[in-house]
Amino acid sequence: MAGPAVTPTAGPSVRVRAPAKVNLYLAVGDLRDDGYHDLVTVFHAVDLADELTVRPARRTAVRTSPPDGVPPGAKNLAGVAARMLATRARAGGPVAIDIDKQIPVAGGMAGGSADAAAALVGCAALWDLDLGRRELTDIAREIGADVPFALAGGTALGTGRGDLLSPVMTRARLHWVLAISDHGLSTPAVFGELDRLRAQGSPPRVKPVDTMLAALTSGEPAKIAAALGNDLQAAAISLAPELRRTLRAGEQAGALGGVVSGSGPTVALLCADAESAGSVAAELAGSGTCRSVRVAAGPAPGARVLPTGGRG
Ligand code: C5P
Repeated sequence: MAGPAVTPTAGPSVRVRAPAKVNLYLAVGDLRDDGYHDLVTVFHAVDLADELTVRPARRTAVRTSPPDGVPPGAKNLAGVAARMLATRARAGGPVAIDIDKQIPVAGGMAGGSADAAAALVGCAALWDLDLGRRELTDIAREIGADVPFALAGGTALGTGRGDLLSPVMTRARLHWVLAISDHGLSTPAVFGELDRLRAQGSPPRVKPVDTMLAALTSGEPAKIAAALGNDLQAAAISLAPELRRTLRAGEQAGALGGVVSGSGPTVALLCADAESAGSVAAELAGSGTCRSVRVAAGPAPGARVLPTGGRG
């Protein structure tokens, strides 16, 4: 159950779309005093997206379809975002949020962050707030480390907790196959597992980010595939060893390279072009190494109001 029944009032509504992300590169530094780790990461938004409809209601509630595994009630990041924006802007009011969920839950693709970013953009439009992207980004940062990127979209270098962004220019249009797992992984548990592995000895760390930035400048998928890297991958595989087989199956099916996305367990396989992604997806779907397979392309835009979503 994703939350209490939503009882919308008649009136305007806004539709918003927000993208999933893949981390093309993720270097994890040491654990900080605030419980976060310093990161250097390259985010890349893909056209696998959640769609939200936001409308005024008697009380704030979030309904997700399908509801499986989505945090209900007060913990849902879309509802958190709506309430935080109303408080900060001293405007707006309760909203009913309906989420058409396409991004895997607890999959390492920042689906909850996408919903939070979409709720910020949707509520700002619904309430006619005179807020710039910068003010929305400040609120996004407080909700979670990945929320600013879900607002921005594209391809971006993230530092700090991953929330300080600068855009990365690239001509590359990247074609992905996403291998989605049976089970989710908790982000804090995967960071904790990396700390544990590092305390025992050092799993090898990813190379400096420059190789990935140069590969993105070249725009060549093969160079980008060779530069994929994620310090969290060893920890995700330690918690979900079957991911090794998924990565191997994807590469055997013809992907240029693969990487666990963020904290996993989704595996992102980079392919030479759309046609190759189609054949890799078909072969991987029959390999029995993941629950389901999606194709996606990037970069995709950040959270935005859909033109057809109009008011009324
Ligand atoms: O910011 P967000 O709520 O998405 O982060 C979830 C958890 O992931 C944090 O509470 C922390 O345990 C871990 N995390 C981290 N370092 C980061 C980002 C997230 O340790 N840079």
